[in-house]
Amino acid sequence: MHNVVNMCDDVYWVGTNDRKTDRFENMWPLDRGVSYNSYLIIDEKVAVIDTVEFGTHSSYLDKIQDMLGDKKVDYIVINHMEPDHSGSLKVLLTNYPEAKIVGNKKTFAMIKGFYKIDHNFYEIAEGDELDLGKHKLTFATIPMVHWPESMVTYDKTTKILFSNDAFGTFGALDGGIFDDELDIDFYEDEMRRYYSNIVGKYGAQVQNAFKKLAGLEIKCIAPSHGPIWRTQIERVMKHYDAWSKFEPEDEGVVVVYGTMYGNTAKSANAVARQLAKEGIKNIRVYDASKTHMSYIIRDIWKYKGLIIGSCAYNSSVYPPIEALLAELKLYGVKNKYLGVFGTYAWSGGGMKAIKEFGEGMRGIEVVGEPIDVFCSPTPEDYTKVEAIAIEMANRLKSER
Ligand code: FEO
Repeated sequence: MHNVVNMCDDVYWVGTNDRKTDRFENMWPLDRGVSYNSYLIIDEKVAVIDTVEFGTHSSYLDKIQDMLGDKKVDYIVINHMEPDHSGSLKVLLTNYPEAKIVGNKKTFAMIKGFYKIDHNFYEIAEGDELDLGKHKLTFATIPMVHWPESMVTYDKTTKILFSNDAFGTFGALDGGIFDDELDIDFYEDEMRRYYSNIVGKYGAQVQNAFKKLAGLEIKCIAPSHGPIWRTQIERVMKHYDAWSKFEPEDEGVVVVYGTMYGNTAKSANAVARQLAKEGIKNIRVYDASKTHMSYIIRDIWKYKGLIIGSCAYNSSVYPPIEALLAELKLYGVKNKYLGVFGTYAWSGGGMKAIKEFGEGMRGIEVVGEPIDVFCSPTPEDYTKVEAIAIEMANRLKSER
């Protein structure tokens, strides 16, 4: 059977790769695509764990039908209702009308809402066991990782944790399905981007999920996006633990700026150069108009240092920077040092907005003296801008 991967015993990956969609949630770039992982357990009873996005359902259905032949699907487990996973539920149910939909109370309300399906519900509660024959499935809710109804399914027989969004990554599966078959660094980076962009707001809930799943013997984590983790379980667990606590991974600084005519960029470049002179090696400089905030947020998660600059725009902050600040506020980003600079020609507003953002966020400390440059930096302005970099570097180095 092509494009179906046997994971172990009678458990199969039957997911799909999406290399056509430009944006995940119509917002986050998918340069290297994304996978929608669905799993099939063929036992005395047949269970499908999660489905795939609707647009990829044709090849998905082919795989399931080819694998099952005359067999029927007995259960469709819906770990998460976001349509990238539940989008093919209707198609599956049309082809297997007797299949029971396994979910919790919150799942079913959303199924009715999204798909107008109000039958075949098989409600499970925390800790219930679903007996497939050899395989025994149990369930644990993990609210807000990533929606309120989110849950994980655990196969007691194989010790596979079907974790849905948790431990998922952007990036289609380009041949390799398991972590030991592919370029781990790429997917690790895409996991960081998926976590920060999609799950980032729910760090406390991730910690609660960790507590709930503690003690479970896990031989394999099978998420709903990206690689199946079977050799790097400890590594991805450590990442999730750190990311959900906003713990920086490395010493480094993200410098992000908004500029119309390049004058604010001059300060950004000076700041970056000074950071390098102070011995900071990981420096990421981004023009917020050019680079999608998805990547900027990913790196903000990684490093403790953040320096933001903006020109004034209509007496306020430049819109791409405003959008970034709003997103960081929404996530409740913390454990950061923040440097602030701006440029103005008449009323100002850019620097002020960033400064107010930093002062209003618990867990963000503004370091150095924010500076608003008139039109284009003078030598004196450069000295003040560089002073922010020096202060930032000193603070970071003091934590070595
Ligand atoms: Fe992959 Fe929350 O959906």
